[in-house]
Amino acid sequence: MATILVTGAAGFIGSHTTDQLLAAGHKVVGVDNFRTGKAANLAEALRSGAFQFVEADVAAAGVLDAVVEEARPEAIIHLAALVSVQESIADPALNFSLNVLATQLVGEAARRHGVKRVVFASSAAVYGDATTLPLREDAEKRPISPYGAAKLASEALLLGHAASYGFTARCHRYFNVFGPRQDPASPYSGVISIFDRRFREGAAVTIFGDGQQTRDFISVHDVARANVRAATRAGLASGVVNICTGRATSLLDVARVFAAHYPQAGAPRHEPARAGDIVHSLGEATRAAAEMDFRADVPVADGLAELIRRG
Ligand code: UD1
Repeated sequence: MATILVTGAAGFIGSHTTDQLLAAGHKVVGVDNFRTGKAANLAEALRSGAFQFVEADVAAAGVLDAVVEEARPEAIIHLAALVSVQESIADPALNFSLNVLATQLVGEAARRHGVKRVVFASSAAVYGDATTLPLREDAEKRPISPYGAAKLASEALLLGHAASYGFTARCHRYFNVFGPRQDPASPYSGVISIFDRRFREGAAVTIFGDGQQTRDFISVHDVARANVRAATRAGLASGVVNICTGRATSLLDVARVFAAHYPQAGAPRHEPARAGDIVHSLGEATRAAAEMDFRADVPVADGLAELIRRG
């Protein structure tokens, strides 16, 4: 069993990844500064003797190096980030610090302390407004936000470090991740977390546009499983890979599933489409299957049912 360092361990994807690593018998050192992560997400992990938590900012000088030196992890799963595209537009300097500089520090720590594998939280945002669907990893990258640009820059940094210093870098381009613990607080949170909260409150949801827009929604359980696999499997070569389902689901379909369970909620209100909104997004899932034998296996309907069941 290995020791794995998870940055952003108290976040949405980080906490699920931590839970799965612990369930598989690994030791986990989790780092988070609770900027957007929540201690409550670690409730399960903190009951495990195999989990160690460090409250720290991974973008601050010296932090990562010290944690990696002490923990000597076999792999780092780097999920700490500024996660909001809108916030990256409002504060591009903070985006650079959290989404580029911190990645550089991960690469340097991996180099100095002999880490074998780095798994990085990239994003479908690297593709920007590329329109040929499904999106393949070799599609043209045209980021349209500081966030997408930072994720693309971080991929390049890690791949360059990996080739120079002999570790493996796996860059996971997540599509629209959903599931328990996703924060619905901001209007720019993932639409499923917003719908979940609104329906639960018996309130009407807002659909921007006609609701026919589609996304490749992937369960956080599948995403966490991909992270665990990439961090623990020997023999993978460095590279980028879509973490998606390869299936499109419309917003109307999502709203219908919730509406069937919450008949008391008001009918969805329609508002004009958001500026800059893309209509369709869909990933090509075949590379993950070929390279790491990974296929998303939670159907969207099951993932929504899990949220609804939670009560
Ligand atoms: C993602 C980012 C967003 C960014 C965009 C551009 C997330 C959670 N969002 O958006 O910040 O600007 O990429 O690359 O990563 N919707 C509603 N009602 C709501 C909320 C959303 O109809 O209450 C719609 C949106 O207009 C959109 C769809 O639902 O058409 C999905 O929205 P969202 O979950 O924000 O994902 P992306 O559009 O992929």
